[in-house]
Amino acid sequence: MGLLLPLGLCTLALCCGAVSLPQQALGPSPLLSRGCNDSGVLAVTGFALQDINRDRKDGYVLSLNRVHNAWEHRQDDLGSLFYLTLDVLETDCHVLSKKAWKDCRVRSLHGSVYGQCKVMFYINKPHRVLYSPAYNCTLRPVSQEKIHSMCPDCPGPRPTDSSDPRVLEAATESLAKYNENTLKQYSLLKVTRASSQWVVGPSYFVEYLVKESPCTTSQAGSCSLQSSDSAPIGLCTGSLVQTDEGKFVSVTCDFFETQAPSPGGENSSVNKGPVSLPKVQEPQGKNTSLTVSPYKAGPRGSVQYLPDLDSEKPNNSQEKDPHEAFPVQLDLTTNPGGETLDVSFLFLRPVEEKLVVLPFPREEQRSAECPGPAQQASALVLPP
Ligand SMILES: *[C@@H]1O[C@H](CO)[C@@H](O)[C@H](O)[C@H]1NC(C)=O
Ligand SMILES: *[C@@H]1O[C@H](CO)[C@@H](O)[C@H](O)[C@H]1NC(C)=O
Ligand SMILES: *[C@@H]1O[C@H](CO)[C@@H](O)[C@H](O)[C@H]1NC(C)=O
Ligand SMILES: *[C@@H]1O[C@H](CO)[C@@H](O)[C@H](O)[C@H]1NC(C)=O
Ligand SMILES: *[C@@H]1O[C@H](CO)[C@@H](O)[C@H](O)[C@H]1NC(C)=O
Repeated sequence: MGLLLPLGLCTLALCCGAVSLPQQALGPSPLLSRGCNDSGVLAVTGFALQDINRDRKDGYVLSLNRVHNAWEHRQDDLGSLFYLTLDVLETDCHVLSKKAWKDCRVRSLHGSVYGQCKVMFYINKPHRVLYSPAYNCTLRPVSQEKIHSMCPDCPGPRPTDSSDPRVLEAATESLAKYNENTLKQYSLLKVTRASSQWVVGPSYFVEYLVKESPCTTSQAGSCSLQSSDSAPIGLCTGSLVQTDEGKFVSVTCDFFETQAPSPGGENSSVNKGPVSLPKVQEPQGKNTSLTVSPYKAGPRGSVQYLPDLDSEKPNNSQEKDPHEAFPVQLDLTTNPGGETLDVSFLFLRPVEEKLVVLPFPREEQRSAECPGPAQQASALVLPP
């Protein structure tokens, strides 16, 4: 749980706590360019991505395809603040499953969703602090036009609008089939992904979040109780295939571990990461007892979904500027000299610790060893 530190810190820092530093006239940049295949960088990246996934409330877990760019700002006893640009791929785990990205499978090429994240990640090993003050990501589905031109005969389901009534039908019918075999009943909360393909007839493939229904099997049909709790508790994958002989329905559901973050923070899955930092310090601010967080929790970042790149060129205008294809903005300051960010709350002892935050380094200032090797090297899923 160590990475689940109070959110909203950056907002606070920007409004009240951030202090401009004197301009470092002509001073050398304190930023150290790091290799994108460096084992230390990969370890830090693993934690940063885990932190992003844990902070999110919807969408699928993102996994690392490659490190695009990495900078380190060493700050004496305080540790280091990393500025990372990561090329990522969507997996088939929902973020609410809280599964580690390394335990999730990336989508097959024709169903890929890929993009780029920028994240600032603070690490202080002696004090076992791992913390992302901010991140932002931009994702797009793989270009269906390019997939098709690469392999015109490959079947492969095509992404389909979730509002298509046949998608809804596939979800309801597959869930009804699931409910036939369980005493507890589940109801549909939201379709999270849908695709279709002509097999022997029209076929629809869906993924959807479910919640517990207050009804049981015996009441089926006649139960009109409203569930008071509409929290998603699992992700189901279903399909509906129409043929001349009738309909074929399949379904599997995967229920999330009900793990209310324990205030003790034991068994943080973060500890399964590549670097062993036995226990990450819990910050104050969880309402375990005494301390009430003085600031509101809010997201530290967001994931933006954009359409397929090729579907955006209606009149064959020139190709987009590659850097515009996956715009990700991440700046806690625009002051070239940087600002300070109060991170005292990350430490157990009563200290005043202030981290220096700089504007996010520009893409052009890139180490020769970047980007690093990709897991999925197809150009179709690598941001330019
Ligand atoms: C926590 O980890 C310990 C040792 O790895 C394990 O025995 C225990 O079952 C875990 N507890 C939970 C709640 O996962
Ligand atoms: C923590 O706060 C939440 C919502 O503010 C509340 O529902 C919960 O009971 C609190 N937990 C404790 C241990 O005080
Ligand atoms: C081409 O794109 C421009 C700007 O995006 C738009 O104003 C124009 O109507 C488009 N032309 C056609 C033929 O779609
Ligand atoms: C993250 O991106 C959003 C827009 O997508 C932007 O409003 C926000 O300022 C960005 N966050 C930071 C810290 O730059
Ligand atoms: C990346 O590092 C691994 C292990 O250190 C090495 O085996 C591999 O060849 C490196 N790849 C590149 C492209 O440098």
